[in-house]
Parts: sequence; C-alpha cells; structure tokens
Amino acid sequence: MGWQVSDWIDVVAESALAEGEHVVVDVDGYDVAIFKLDGEFYAIEDVCTHDGAEIASGELEGDEIVCPRHGARFCVKTGQVKCAPAYEDVATFPVRVVDGRLQVAAQS
Ligand code: FES
Repeated sequence: MGWQVSDWIDVVAESALAEGEHVVVDVDGYDVAIFKLDGEFYAIEDVCTHDGAEIASGELEGDEIVCPRHGARFCVKTGQVKCAPAYEDVATFPVRVVDGRLQVAAQS
C-alpha cells in the first residue's frame, strides 16, 4: 500500500520476545505492537480502528487479537479486521531481524 521505507528503527533484541508475546514501541510517533507468532514477527499499529483502544493489551487467540474495549478482532499477521464493531483494517508495519535485533520500518 504505497509503503516507502525511509528508515529501519531498532526496537529490541529478537530474543526478548517469546512465542505469543508482544512488545509495544514508538516508531516515528506511531504506537506499534510487535508480536511473535509461529516463529515470525509481525507489527501492527496499536490503535483499534473502532475507537482507538490499545488493541495489543487484549487477548491473543491464534493469530487474532481481540480488542479489550468492545471485542473487535484483527489478524495480527495481516492487520485485517475480522469482526465488528470495527470495519477497517489496522495498519501493519514491515519488520526484519538484523544481527539478532528487531527493526521496524518507519514510513517516509
Ligand atoms: S475500541 Fe476496539 S472494538 Fe471498540
């Protein structure tokens, strides 16, 4: 979706996240939640598209995160919205691992 990576922001050590865990970091003014799922890393904006709740603080069920406020669900891997009351996908961010460190792409 028109991504142009301007910078890779160093976040945490890859080893800081166990399977099913997440960390929330600030990337260029965005709150970004990075999850480790099935041995891979995925980053979504930590803002529910329904009413702005911090979605990463909700329950993770499989690859879906459940918004703690009203129960909307989003796929952590794709950002795709899975159930009401949210109707818009949540933003995703590219993640990579370099020398054992997680890096998230900042948007240009
Ligand atoms: S704020 Fe997330 S479902 Fe309402």
